This record gives sequence, structure tokens and C-alpha cells, in this order.
Amino acid sequence: DMGGHDTYMHKEISEQADAVDRVLRGRIDDRFSTVHLGGLNLDAREARGVRRIKILGCGTSYHAGQIGAQLIEELARIPADAEPASEFRYRNPVVDPDTLYVAVSQSGETYDVLAAVQELKRKGARVLGVVNVVGSAIAREADGGTYVHAGPEVCVVSTKCFTNTVVAFALLALHLGRIRDLSVADGKRIIEGLRKLPAQITEILENEDEIKKLAAEYADAKSMMFIGRVRGYPVAREASLKLKEVSYIHAEAYPASELKHGPLALIEPAMPTVAIVPDDELLEKNRAAMEEIKARSGRILAVAHQVQEKADHTIVVPKNENELDPILMGIPLQLFAYHTALAMGRDIDKPRNLAKSVTVE
Ligand code: M6R
Repeated sequence: DMGGHDTYMHKEISEQADAVDRVLRGRIDDRFSTVHLGGLNLDAREARGVRRIKILGCGTSYHAGQIGAQLIEELARIPADAEPASEFRYRNPVVDPDTLYVAVSQSGETYDVLAAVQELKRKGARVLGVVNVVGSAIAREADGGTYVHAGPEVCVVSTKCFTNTVVAFALLALHLGRIRDLSVADGKRIIEGLRKLPAQITEILENEDEIKKLAAEYADAKSMMFIGRVRGYPVAREASLKLKEVSYIHAEAYPASELKHGPLALIEPAMPTVAIVPDDELLEKNRAAMEEIKARSGRILAVAHQVQEKADHTIVVPKNENELDPILMGIPLQLFAYHTALAMGRDIDKPRNLAKSVTVE
């Protein structure tokens, strides 16, 4: 049942405020400015013993994991990184007893992720799952973890699950942070930010008509560049994946700082750039990158917290705490990908060559 929407993708994008509300519900502990995650199976002493966190996933879940790793480093000060599960399992990784492994998957059935979990468990590692589908294979194999409560996602292209997975990581990061060195004041600050998310998502979605017009504006592009820096980089990667899988327009994502090391050669009017420009400590750096693009007559669509004069167009999104900004900045670009694909007559819910869950090698 599409509930009045013409595609599941549109329905699922529209459900995100409620979905985020669900992942937060019942988990916030105002007394200690922390959150509780029921099924983690990791007590405070064990959490303090974690020296490193390795996040494994594929596709959109891997991108959510990249933001998750940054949240964990920022809030819990535990070194963390994300890697595609398939790469991890084929490179005979060093499995370290003080590392906590986190497997991320919407379906909980992705073979590469499941195989990585099984290999890790065989070597005695502790593996948590961040999974949407309750009782799925990865959820069952993991030692513990948390469900992301996005509700069923039907469209092959993942949207609401990405957002909820990132929120679930913010909860995990806050939980670990408050067991370690995150102050009560910072815990409160993050909790207040989390509570603002559903209303801010609604605000972004109310902007759909404008985003649709912008999609038409850039529909002639043969290829698009997506750039971001630190918190904005995984957002750029995910937005680039969304656009290519649903519209078949070629897109690539680069850290803004890498432009001058090569990809700047591609910039010309037929290669527009989508720039993720949060109002944080890197704002000036991002403005400088936009200036370099303008100097090569590149068109720029910015996603930012205020209108960017260097850009041709800006999608303005509401500001949250710096650490939580990535949760919101990709959402307008889901709509951008959707409207681009719709105008091109693409099979939005079932893009060619793709399956909802990849349960084979
Ligand atoms: O079910 P999973 O989260 O494990 O799936 C991982 C990827 O196959 C999936 O995110 C894929 O990249 C989607 N088509 C993205 O929209």
C-alpha cells in the first residue's frame, strides 16, 4: 500500500520524521543525559574496554556507517572507521580482541556483511548489529546490537533506513560517550538536538516543490560531482549513490579538499557540483572550494544552513548541533534524486540491475 504516493521511494522519504521519532522513543534518559539501547549486551565495564570500533556494511549502510564512525569518534573519542564488508572479508583482516565490530544492514541479509560477521565470530570477536529487519540473519548472528526501527522499506533505493541508521549510531555514540568522557552538558546538548530532528525533517520535506524545480534545473547534466568535507563527505557519497542508482546519471563524490588533486580537471558547465556546506568550523574551507569551482565556470547547487553566494542555488536546511548536521543534509538530496529520476521516466522503485538485498557473493 503506497498510501497515496506514486512510488515507495516517495512514500519512504516522506515517512522519515515518524521513523526518526520511533528510533528515539523510549531511549532517552534525561536524568543522566544519556540513552539506553536495550539489546546491546555490552555493560559499562566492557564499553570502557573498547579501544577501537570497526563498522562494516555495504552501499548505503556503509555510508551510514561512515557517519556513525565520525559520531563515535566525536562523542565517545573512540577511534572508529567504516569499511565495505566485502573488502574487509577478502583482505584477511587483523582481528583485534579490543576492537568492537559493528555490522550495519537494512535487510540483515546482505551476504557480504553476514559472511564478515561469521568470520569475525569464528575468530572470537565481539560483533554488534545495527539492523532494520527484526530477526534477520545478521541480527541473529550478532552478539547484540540495536534495531533501527525505520519500518519496512520496499524501494530498492534506501532512504528512510539510511536516516534512521545514522540516528541509531548517534544514540550508540552518545551512550558510549556518556560512559566515557562526554560531559553531562554535551550529553544534554546532543539530546536536545536529537529531539529537534523530526520537526526539522518535516521542514525539509515541505520544501519539495523547490527541490523539484532545482532537479529540473540540473536535469541536463551528463554527470555530477558531489563534494563535502569531514561530516559532509559521507553525505556527498550517499547523495551521489542515490542519484546514480535511481536516475542513472553518472555521479561521483569527492572530499572537497581533494578537488585540486585531480577532479577539478572535470569541472565545466556540463559538470555541475552539489556541495554540502554545513555552517560549522569548516564553512570557510567549503566556500573556498566553491570559489575554485566557480572560477572554472562550474555550476553549484549547495546544501547549506544559509544561502551561499558562491553557489548558483542553495537548498537551505535547518541547523542542528554540528555533530548531527549530517543526518539532515542528505534528505533534500533524496528528493533531488527522486525528482530527477521521475522526470526521466525511470523505474524508481526497481532500478535496472539492482536487487533490494544482495544475498549472494
Ligand atoms: O540491506 P543492506 O542495508 O545490507 O543493503 C546494503 C546495500 O545493498 C544497499 O544499501 C544498496 O546500496 C541500496 N541499493 C542503496 O540504496
